[in-house]
Amino acid sequence: MRVAMVPTMGALHEGHLSLVRQAGENADHVVVTIFVNPTQFGPGEDYEEYPRTLDTDVEQCRQTGVSLVFAPGLSEMYGTTGTEAPKHFISFRISKMTDQLCGPFRPAHFEGVLQVVNKLFNIVQPDAAVFGQKDIQQWFLIRQMAGELDMPVEILMGPTRREPDGLAQSSRNVYLTSDERKKAPMLFESLQRIRWQLEGQCHSARSTRAGEAITEPGTPAVSVNPAIISEEINRLDENGFHVEYFSLVTTPDLQPADVIEPGRLYVIATAARLGKTRLIDNVLFTFKDSQTHDA
Ligand code: PAJ
Repeated sequence: MRVAMVPTMGALHEGHLSLVRQAGENADHVVVTIFVNPTQFGPGEDYEEYPRTLDTDVEQCRQTGVSLVFAPGLSEMYGTTGTEAPKHFISFRISKMTDQLCGPFRPAHFEGVLQVVNKLFNIVQPDAAVFGQKDIQQWFLIRQMAGELDMPVEILMGPTRREPDGLAQSSRNVYLTSDERKKAPMLFESLQRIRWQLEGQCHSARSTRAGEAITEPGTPAVSVNPAIISEEINRLDENGFHVEYFSLVTTPDLQPADVIEPGRLYVIATAARLGKTRLIDNVLFTFKDSQTHDA
């Protein structure tokens, strides 16, 4: 019997449910966990106000064929109640992979994520676990943890589910005012524009190469013009976003990339505040014959 798990913090939306369906295609039973994990929220972040909708979540899980929902309380997970700090003495230390993207803006966040995911893996003991591309840095960190620590769990990626206008679905979208909600899809538009420009640059590099008398095998790396990213940051800033980062990084180590090498998978990722809401999004990019990985 194969068990696949989908860890969540609840306030389930179509993005979460798509992971549940993917898990169901991959296993006999799906376990969804719902736990708003305090150790991954920093001071001043939205731990208290994070939406909690357990009854509807459980009902949605029931309708999506979930076998078991595990929704522990603070005391079960950390032996504490209320606002008392979790009592734990063992923690993760991450190097390199949190130097970029959300890492510098959310100190200790990913250590908290790895801690709780590790605990949930040990409790549920799944054969596979599905995490969303939406939280791309989290995905690569969890897969790295499972690999480095020889955890017997397969880490799968579910594509980002979007609203019809392109905004990535998120439990935090409920914080947006109606004006902000109208502007929010600009983030994905910016990411797509960068991807198109990179595709264009790679395409012309390939065509130039094809027209030359080729003396050396292989396609050379393409340098990235930093202006294509700064233009998008300016455009977002002018429209009321406060951009925390907008970066092109290598995988799986998540390091800044200034050239695109053929065959390698890159992430173009951004985080921006719109009013009091922090939005994140990303697209994947590979320089190859069929370059695009996802929508
Ligand atoms: P949460 O934000 O609830 O997300 C749960 C899972 O749903 C994550 O794997 C996330 O990447 C995925 N997800 C969120 N929005 C998505 C979308 N629009 N399309 C597809 N997948 C989406 O991520 C967490 O909770 C926590 O950090 C957790 C891993 C549960 C640890 O506490």
